[in-house]
Amino acid sequence: MDIAAASALLATHGQEHLLGFYEALSPAERTALLEQIAEVDFAQLDRLIATYVLAEPTVPRGEISPPAVVPIRTADGAMIMKKQRAFALGEQWIRQGKVAAFVVAGGQGTRLGYEGPKGCLPATPVRKKPLFQLFAEQLLAANRRYQTTVPLYVMTSPANDVATRSFFRQHGYFGLAETDVFFLVQGTMPAFDFDGKILLESKGGLALSPNGHGGSLTALRKSGALADMASRGVELISYFQVDNPLVRVVDPLFIGLHAMDEAEMSAKVLPKREPLEKLGNVCVVDGRTTVIEYSDMPETLARETTADGHLRFSAGSIAIHILSRPFVEALTGGGGEMALPWHRAAKKVSCVDARGEAVRPTEPNAVKLEMFVFDALPLAKKVVVLETLRSEEFSPIKNASGEDSLASSLHDQVRRAATWLEQAGVRVPRDADGQVAAAIEIGPLLANSAAELAERGDVNPTIASGGTVYLG
Ligand code: UTP
Repeated sequence: MDIAAASALLATHGQEHLLGFYEALSPAERTALLEQIAEVDFAQLDRLIATYVLAEPTVPRGEISPPAVVPIRTADGAMIMKKQRAFALGEQWIRQGKVAAFVVAGGQGTRLGYEGPKGCLPATPVRKKPLFQLFAEQLLAANRRYQTTVPLYVMTSPANDVATRSFFRQHGYFGLAETDVFFLVQGTMPAFDFDGKILLESKGGLALSPNGHGGSLTALRKSGALADMASRGVELISYFQVDNPLVRVVDPLFIGLHAMDEAEMSAKVLPKREPLEKLGNVCVVDGRTTVIEYSDMPETLARETTADGHLRFSAGSIAIHILSRPFVEALTGGGGEMALPWHRAAKKVSCVDARGEAVRPTEPNAVKLEMFVFDALPLAKKVVVLETLRSEEFSPIKNASGEDSLASSLHDQVRRAATWLEQAGVRVPRDADGQVAAAIEIGPLLANSAAELAERGDVNPTIASGGTVYLG
């Protein structure tokens, strides 16, 4: 796109300030800016600005009820049988190569503040393995156990794509075949001021940020990942976030339940710790499974209890999903905009002002728009909601300290390892408060569940109080 075309385009959409410093740019910077402008869909932005930036849409809600959940523990014989059959079916699908793993790792990780992609963060208690290595080792274990290949799809964003790919390359793809690891870059969205003007990050560049994990669905299509999956015979996508070291990357039970019910998208949940816990609420709204963000959940509903004193809306979403490939193909195949809504957030975005001066805001100065993957749930004809245990599958690393930090996650990893060992008959030292009194790590190549560990029968370490033990 040349400067004349760019000027005309921007004038049509009221964004001509983006070229305000054009004359001051070097030839290379000019080219880069024009390329950025050419990539923006301004017609779409006009609609989004009117709907989400200049207005603050409230989502109309219909009748809200709790979802049917496959429970973690049950005395119901039929349900126990169903879960047994589902586990076997899930194993069969994995064995047949019908399952792919998909990690979304395009986020900016601003709360954690780690330099570099979050997946490179050393995140285990003893070996300090990076998150990406943990996931890769789970796949190596699944490949070995089921004599198959579970391909790994890694979504990055423009800001961390090069670093992510080179990290995998430097580490030999952690033992996976290079051809079985597929990287895809997600789309971006500009940040706007409160009048709907796109912000400039510098005189020669738009303030762009990743378009949310909901952007992963379009990215799967545009990158050719869906086509790659189809050519491999992959039917189901096991979706997870990069920040949870306890995630079970391929879970036969979850996969099997989804397959058995011919679901299009499924969700794992756990009982919320307290009514207003900052987890999305999995609900049914007008007959459709829907995640209502904690900030949007009416407080009276969040606090409602059942006759036996439990929270009526207890299903907290932990962002672990199975998606059927044909479902993602259908959602993203229309050629136009995908049907997911956008979410508006007022944020602090560093930028340059109209005089070209750098602005480091102390208060929110911008609107960012993101899509969320869970908004695909109401579009699915059938959804399975599976309950799991927090201690087994969820301890994300979001913050630099406190709750959901590396420290809390390390603690939870040790606690889970200790529980698995104790269930296998190993003595684990504990202090007077019952806390595990050693640093223990179980590598995915040894076991990925208490059952897998117990089934080995050959793991019998002596763990000293205050000691450090790696079992892998
Ligand atoms: P978070 O909501 O925790 O956001 O993402 P974040 O960007 O990682 O962290 P903060 O909010 O800036 O501190 C949850 C998951 O979704 C991915 C993240 O990489 C993480 O795995 N994600 C998020 C994307 O892949 N793309 C996005 O645009 C946003």
